[in-house]
Amino acid sequence: MALDLVHKPDALAAALTETNRLVEAQLDALLPVPETAEARLIEAMRYSVLNGGKRMRAFLVMQTAQLFSVNQTCAARVAASVEMLHAYSLIHDDLPAMDDDDLRRGLPSCHKKFDEATAILAGDALQTRAFEVLAEADTHADPEARCELVLALAAATGMRGMVGGQMIDMQGEGKSLTAPEITRLQALKTGRLIQFSAEAGAILGRAPQAQRHFIAAYGRELGGAFQIYDDVLDETASAEELGKTIGKDAAQGKATMVAILGLDRARAQAERLAEQAAGHLESFGEKADLLRALAGFTVTRKS
Ligand code: IPE
Ligand code: IPE
Ligand code: MG
Ligand code: MG
Ligand code: MG
Repeated sequence: MALDLVHKPDALAAALTETNRLVEAQLDALLPVPETAEARLIEAMRYSVLNGGKRMRAFLVMQTAQLFSVNQTCAARVAASVEMLHAYSLIHDDLPAMDDDDLRRGLPSCHKKFDEATAILAGDALQTRAFEVLAEADTHADPEARCELVLALAAATGMRGMVGGQMIDMQGEGKSLTAPEITRLQALKTGRLIQFSAEAGAILGRAPQAQRHFIAAYGRELGGAFQIYDDVLDETASAEELGKTIGKDAAQGKATMVAILGLDRARAQAERLAEQAAGHLESFGEKADLLRALAGFTVTRKS
């Protein structure tokens, strides 16, 4: 792949660590454990959202917010909201009724650590808390901006987005989908939330339409690259590196690009999409270098 995509790996690693620090501080503050009877629910929520992860979606929010000079605390609240929504999707994805996965981020998945009922409820409550945080006055002074964030996250993650994609993913098990069908499945189940994460900074910064268009295009192609590479890692990584069960897509007959194209062509398609994603950032100049580096990281990462 083009080397210019993987430049600045040290700067990217440092920025991801800093994002993790900021978002974990927000999450800690936004999810206090009460002394009342429902404490177990919040403990399960915290277990799933405060136990690592690459924080790639949070990073997208923080970096695009920086492009448009957004206050860092407001951006960190939105980043925390996106990570809560993402953690909910992982908890439910791992349930026995779905991918039936016992390992997540190197630890027992939520329903293994707690129990199924608690895991379902923790996912539900992480989702609603995510929207609550977006709507709270501290997230943006302008209620119109907050409303726009709520609307865009709902559109990205509901029936026309992530949940719709998860439905197609489940129905696709054991079937041979075409490449365009897999592209659509992946755009819904993964791409839309990644695109939202990128656009969130532009929404917060009230960015002009033309710039939002470029950010959206970057997020869309990055999301496409991300899921194809997730499917590559499912076959090529070790469980220790990945922190997830490996080889499960093939075992469950998942419809993936790896299944229909093979590893090499799937990897090449992911790299092409990552390069295209970076291409949309041209007008932002050096200010977007870390977002460019993230595109390279997406298709070279080990987990
Ligand atoms: C995993 O996402 C789920 C998919 C959409 C493929 P990530 O690979 O971003 O998971 P974490 O947050 O780093 O654990
Ligand atoms: C999960 O896709 C997508 C969502 C959680 C919405 P995968 O099922 O491939 O994710 P992993 O591999 O379990 O993280
Ligand atoms: Mg799944
Ligand atoms: Mg899964
Ligand atoms: Mg996967």
